This record gives sequence, C-alpha cells and structure tokens, in this order.
Amino acid sequence: MAKRVGIITSGGDAPGMNAAVRAVTRHGIFLGYQIIGINRGFKGFLNGEFINLTSRSVSGIINVGGTILHTGRCPETKTRTGMSKAVKAINELDLGGLIIIGGDGSLAAGYALSKQGVKVINIAASIDNDIYGTDETIGYDTALNTAVEAIDKIRDTATSHDRIFIVEIMGRKHGFLTADVGLAAGCEFIVVPEMKVDINRLAAELKKGKERGKTSEIIAFAEGCGSSAEFGKKIEKLTDLEVRVSTLGYIQRGGRPTARTRILASRFGHYAMDLFHNGKANVLVGITDGALSAMPIHQAIKHEKKFDGQTFEVLRTLSV
Ligand code: F6P
Repeated sequence: MAKRVGIITSGGDAPGMNAAVRAVTRHGIFLGYQIIGINRGFKGFLNGEFINLTSRSVSGIINVGGTILHTGRCPETKTRTGMSKAVKAINELDLGGLIIIGGDGSLAAGYALSKQGVKVINIAASIDNDIYGTDETIGYDTALNTAVEAIDKIRDTATSHDRIFIVEIMGRKHGFLTADVGLAAGCEFIVVPEMKVDINRLAAELKKGKERGKTSEIIAFAEGCGSSAEFGKKIEKLTDLEVRVSTLGYIQRGGRPTARTRILASRFGHYAMDLFHNGKANVLVGITDGALSAMPIHQAIKHEKKFDGQTFEVLRTLSV
C-alpha cells in the first residue's frame, strides 16, 4: 500500500494555495504516495474531515484563488489537548507526514507537531510576506498586484477631486506588503509599524507637495499602525486639506493568482514532496536569494523577518 501523506491549508487563505495543493498532490502521487487532503484547516483535522486527493481532484485549480481544501483559524492548535488530538488523528490515518501550507500560525502548529514526533513540512503562504526563512511567500505577489491596481483606481478619483487619500493595506503587524505597494503605486508616503512616523512632519510635507503643484497625494497605511480613519482625521486637521480614507480589506486575499505566485507555489509544492521523499522533515520550504530553501522550523519560528527601510529612501526622492 502507498505511504500516506496529509496536506492541509491553514490560517488566512492566500492566492496560490491551490497551485501548491496541486503540486504536492501530483508530485506526491508520482513519487508513490497517497495524498490525504484535510478540509477546513486544523479545525477540520480535529473534526475528522478528510478526503483522498487524486491527480484529477486537483484539476483546474492552478488559476483559482482561495483554497479548495478550505481553511480556518483554530485556537485549539495552541493548546496541549488540541495538539494531542491532532497527533491522534495523524496516527489513526496512518500518515507518514504532514504538509502544512500557511503563514506564521501554521508554522507554530507545525513546530508543535514536530516536537511530538510528526514529520512536518511547512510551505510558506501568506499575503503578508512576514515569515522568516523565505524572501517571498505564496500569495504575496498576487496581493501586491491587487492592491496596486486598486490604488491606481483611487488615484483617478484623488486627482480629479484634488484630495489626499489614506489607503489602508493588510499585513497584520507588519508593513512588508504596504511598503512594496506604496513604491509600486507611486504613493507619496508609507506608514508602517516598523518605522515611527512624525505626523506633524508628514502633514507639513503633504502641504508642501500641494504647494509644489501636486493635485493628489496618497499615503499607503499599514493596518498594523492602528485606525486609518483616526489617522485621516488628524491629517485633515493638521493640513486643512480634504482627506478620504479607503480600506482595501479582503479583496487583497482573493483573486486569480499571478503567474509569479503560481510558479512559486508549484515549485514549493514539488520541492516539499522531494524533500519528504528524501527523508527530510521539520523544515520550512521557501525561497532565499533566488533558490529554493528548507530552513529548520525551530530556526524559522525563532526569528522575526527584518524590515528593509530602503524603500523609504527610494520614496523620498521619487515621490516629490
Ligand atoms: O494574515 C493574512 C491576513 O489577511 C492579515 O493581513 C490580516 O491582518 C488577517 O489575515 C485577517 O485575518 P482574518 O482572516 O482572521 O480576518
């Protein structure tokens, strides 16, 4: 009988998760494994929601956002009882290993399971791109493009009305997505949790921009910096200019994955199965300096990804 490997998507969905599920399933079957899909993240795992994945059941999904396995946030994975239940399910299903596709919460769950003797391979997927051990996560490029396209549209109305816009971008407590969106969308300013902002100076710069003939100015504002609505009110008061706030929200999580996301997801999924087949486990699959990488989970979990402040330097002269 073929050895069994489980696959689960967990935490916030990210475009490209499906492409990774497809790659793990098809390459896994090629290598002689039976692939068991776990539905609805760890919640589904604990409720016994499993399906047998075949090459055909992952047809037509490479171009589809979200995850066919569904996902969810499961606080129970943070408890001893939750983890014991998961290990029990793994043993009952006779899984030789588990491929977990997700972000930092999934990495924590992977780490906890690996400490209980489960062979785990985490695949980095999150629109936030905030995972240490990979330069890029599955879904990031798609979310980046979605947000940039949205700001291009906002710029039309901002210019027409001579308004200042604060655009709130996802990223939980990090500003990786916001910084890249800000640069790619030609925003005048970026506000992220990693860098302290002097609101009085920012307001003065906005006024100077208007004096220099700018009709509109856009600030890319990371959700991790607090209320964008409050920030907008303060800016309006300090500048006496007309300000609008727009929260991009969950559109950043959906949509057709870009080619770059699909390629990354396919390569990550393929590599994860190769690693497993060669006896490697308890690693995070990612990309480092252009090459596929497998960092031990215990190492990845210990560090915070470093924020590169250079984007600010670039913006300083490009946004005048
Ligand atoms: O981690 C992805 C993400 O979309 C973050 O950017 C955001 O803060 C969070 O998930 C939203 O979480 P939820 O799906 O639980 O509302």
